[in-house]
Amino acid sequence: MPPLRSPSRAQCLLGAMVLWLSPPVKCDCSLFPVIAHGSGQDMSSFFSFTTVVKYECDEGYILVGEPKISCRNSHWSASAPQCRALCAKPQIAHGHLSVEKRQYVERENVTVQCDPGYDMVGPQTISCSENRTWDPEVPSCEWEVHTGCEPVAAGRMLMQCLPDPQDVKLALELYRLALEIKALGRREPLGGDS
Ligand SMILES: *[C@@H]1O[C@H](CO)[C@@H](O)[C@H](O)[C@H]1NC(C)=O
Ligand SMILES: *[C@@H]1O[C@H](CO)[C@@H](O)[C@H](O)[C@H]1NC(C)=O
Repeated sequence: MPPLRSPSRAQCLLGAMVLWLSPPVKCDCSLFPVIAHGSGQDMSSFFSFTTVVKYECDEGYILVGEPKISCRNSHWSASAPQCRALCAKPQIAHGHLSVEKRQYVERENVTVQCDPGYDMVGPQTISCSENRTWDPEVPSCEWEVHTGCEPVAAGRMLMQCLPDPQDVKLALELYRLALEIKALGRREPLGGDS
């Protein structure tokens, strides 16, 4: 007899008898686990003794675990997979992240570090949450603004009173100019670069 391409009548009958003789096996597995942010599809064929479910995640979620699970004798081969959220890399001006990636997976923590001269506003550590957002909110790095500025006694002091690096550069030039004028006033030759 050549190999059969489609089920014969005899096979159909056999399949029906098997189902009729052992209904609980199939029934117990008929309800497969539901997962968040994804869905399962029953892939089992009519004749199979096992229930096979294949899971897929919604867009923006990544599958963790076994994508396909099967049920035999009322037992699942593995627990259902999870669909974990993917979070986009947080954009922080004047700051950098402890781990640099294009995207991050749910529950992943990232620590933010601000560049020198910038203060952190918000939490230092953030976590990729189930709804694909960062929790708590992404911090920002703000230029240090010191209240109660000291009188300008040196370049450093001057720097601490100004809100942005561009201003500081200008201020330092003005400060240098002021020193030069002072030196000229005392009719002393200018010192070196320092
Ligand atoms: C992220 O931090 C939280 C709280 O500190 C911790 O419970 C969790 O295990 C961390 N996640 C990872 C992937 O390390
Ligand atoms: C996302 O989840 C976080 C915590 O899990 C929550 O604070 C925030 O409100 C949620 N955002 C949205 C848009 O659902």
